[in-house]
Amino acid sequence: MPQYQIGYSPRLSGEVHVSTAKNAVLPILAAALLTQEEIILHQVPQLTDVRHMLGILRSCGAEVSEENADVRIRGVSVGSPKENALLRTMRASVLILGPLVARTGACVLSMPGGCAIGQRPIDLHLKGLQKLGAKVEQEGGTVQVSGALKGANIYLDFPSVGATENLIMAAVLAKGVTRIENAAKEPEITDLCHFLTAMGGRIAGAGTANIIIEGVESLHGAEYTPIPDRIEAGTLACAAALTEGSVLLEGARTDHMRALLFKLSESGVICQEDVRGLRLRGKARHPMEARTLSYPGFPTDMQAPLMVVATQTHGLSVFLETIFENRYMHVVELKRLGAHIRVEGQLALIQGGRTLNGAHVTATDLRAAAALMLAGLIAQGQTTVSDPAGHLMRGYESLEDKLTVLGAEAKKLEDRINVSKKPANDGEFMAAN
Ligand code: UD1
Repeated sequence: MPQYQIGYSPRLSGEVHVSTAKNAVLPILAAALLTQEEIILHQVPQLTDVRHMLGILRSCGAEVSEENADVRIRGVSVGSPKENALLRTMRASVLILGPLVARTGACVLSMPGGCAIGQRPIDLHLKGLQKLGAKVEQEGGTVQVSGALKGANIYLDFPSVGATENLIMAAVLAKGVTRIENAAKEPEITDLCHFLTAMGGRIAGAGTANIIIEGVESLHGAEYTPIPDRIEAGTLACAAALTEGSVLLEGARTDHMRALLFKLSESGVICQEDVRGLRLRGKARHPMEARTLSYPGFPTDMQAPLMVVATQTHGLSVFLETIFENRYMHVVELKRLGAHIRVEGQLALIQGGRTLNGAHVTATDLRAAAALMLAGLIAQGQTTVSDPAGHLMRGYESLEDKLTVLGAEAKKLEDRINVSKKPANDGEFMAAN
């Protein structure tokens, strides 16, 4: 079981490089199924979720090779995945649905279940595919989608990130024009559209709520480097803000991080865009209000890390989680360290300025794991974060090493999960995002 030990580390300083975004890489890997030609991706991060997605592509018949951080994929002949264990480990596995139906006319998938942070249905994905002319059949835990896709007008009841991505990937090879209204606007969607355009796709309006896709006959190979991870950069920015740090996050895209940077600036942190990335100086001192929203609103993935910052400001901070039903699981663990937080439904009230004391805490989901690592930086003594399901490695490329580079006392104690084999718990845990 992975465990991390964090010692009191009051002042972070130095420079650290931001990895490529997990949430950009996963849909781009799924999109590689759209062509029989070779896809080359650079700077692919070493994450469990990425390993699982590569496993899923292999299970669909694609040839995958890796060299350092470069990945080559060639899907000459692809079809529904032959084995389901990997699909069940990760919500993002549903992203192969759109590409496979568009390319081959059919896909049979084991339905992703709910997960710790919320139910996370895939109704918007399926409704959109039906609009594109697909037949959707659900039986037991399986969903079967088939048919020749035709362009259509689709309105999403909610701007779901995954549904927007799946439908763009389906529409790019559909016959005719597709319009997606109330589409999600996250930078990772724009990045996926840039990648699809590099493959010969015709897409307008990426990054807006109205995306127009003109279907093409076929897509060709491409070489691409996905965007830096705004959530990893944001997590490290919160670490700096907690510790009165002086930190450069090399490669961070500040234009993707506006909502968080406003919060940190209002709280007293100096955030400066630099040609090399993002510089942060000083400490968060003033309480804050944060309401999670779709992009460009404040990201739900930053809620837990920012809450740790709020535990150290003077006064009452108010957080409202509107995206996921059950995303305050880190609160119980933060309280174990001495934080004063009260949760009332979607609201969390954080009484800041309390001294945290090191203790043994448990990671309940990916962003909760990162938040607990941050809390360890300002807790007196030693904090041990147990991560039985390996959440942290799913979405952060050695967060403990990056914190160490910035002068923190942080190390991994033990790791018996071998991600190249089948999931440690036989695929029964569902990834949180
Ligand atoms: C993506 C991100 C995740 C982030 C989330 C919200 C990836 C791999 N993951 O997840 O890190 O936290 O966006 O920014 O990119 N919903 C439905 N029906 C659907 C689809 C979604 O009701 O068919 C609901 C979900 O239950 C949730 C909300 O919509 O309450 C947002 O989900 P969505 O935007 O789809 O998130 P993901 O794509 O799963």
